[in-house]
Amino acid sequence: MSLFSRIREDINSVLERDPAARSWVEVLLCYPGLWAVWFHCASHKLWRAKLYLPARILSQIARFFTGVDIHPGALLGRRLFIDHATGVVIGETAIVGSDVTMYQGVTLGGTGKQHGKRHPTICDGVFIGNNANILGNIAVGENSRVGAGSVVLTDVPPNSTVVGVPAHIVYRNGERVLITDPHDIKDPLSDALIALSARVEELDDRLSAQDHRIQDRRAQPFAEEEAERSAYRSELERRSAYVSMGEGI
Ligand SMILES: CC(C)(COP(=O)(O)OP(=O)(O)OC[C@H]1O[C@@H](n2cnc3c(N)ncnc32)[C@H](O)[C@@H]1OP(=O)(O)O)[C@@H](O)C(=O)NCCC(=O)NCCS
Repeated sequence: MSLFSRIREDINSVLERDPAARSWVEVLLCYPGLWAVWFHCASHKLWRAKLYLPARILSQIARFFTGVDIHPGALLGRRLFIDHATGVVIGETAIVGSDVTMYQGVTLGGTGKQHGKRHPTICDGVFIGNNANILGNIAVGENSRVGAGSVVLTDVPPNSTVVGVPAHIVYRNGERVLITDPHDIKDPLSDALIALSARVEELDDRLSAQDHRIQDRRAQPFAEEEAERSAYRSELERRSAYVSMGEGI
């Protein structure tokens, strides 16, 4: 694909996706996210030609002008749209599919614990809200959405929406996913929640056992007195047996 047809395709995709974009001249002149992608095309070519230092220098020049830091080793698909651009970081081993949209402040980074492929793979059609962090060698499935400010640390299935820190699924294949079990969220507070819910369950069990006992007592209000009386009666009967034995002697 020639450079000019690539530029035309990118501009058209921005006009389709951004309601604020009015003309192709405006997109060409006012969208640093696109400049960053075009700069990356050049720096990635240098990287593949093993001209590592020139590639890095070019990517830093791009960063200076656009505010977007894309490592020249990263693999980017077609029609990537980085809206507002500033603060986006895409790591060396990141893979970004086609028709991906991301906003300012997004990081496709490593966790600092891995070597080799240590950055995420973003599949086609993914939407990433502003300041979301997607960390580690994980995959975000096709057409999924990542909420603004989320921190994604595990794989995201296709056609899902994830939000939060750390991110959890709120929509899957168009269906709302509700969290009812605290084990499903790896939140810093989830251990406290799990302990709390176990304690509530234990107290609930004890309360219902006590409730059963009270209800039993209510159902037979004089059960104890009745038991005493029948014991007394049987004792009387036992003694009267002796008395009757004596009759007639
Ligand atoms: C993630 C997102 C796409 C979801 O949108 P949606 O499908 O309309 O989802 P909903 O509004 O139904 O939200 C579903 C649940 O997730 C929560 N949620 C949505 N976005 C969230 C976010 N970024 N962080 C934390 N929770 C979020 C909602 O509060 C709601 O929870 P609740 O039902 O318990 O109240 C959207 O919220 C988002 O973050 N978009 C990014 C926009 C952006 O970056 N704009 C930048 C412009 S410069």
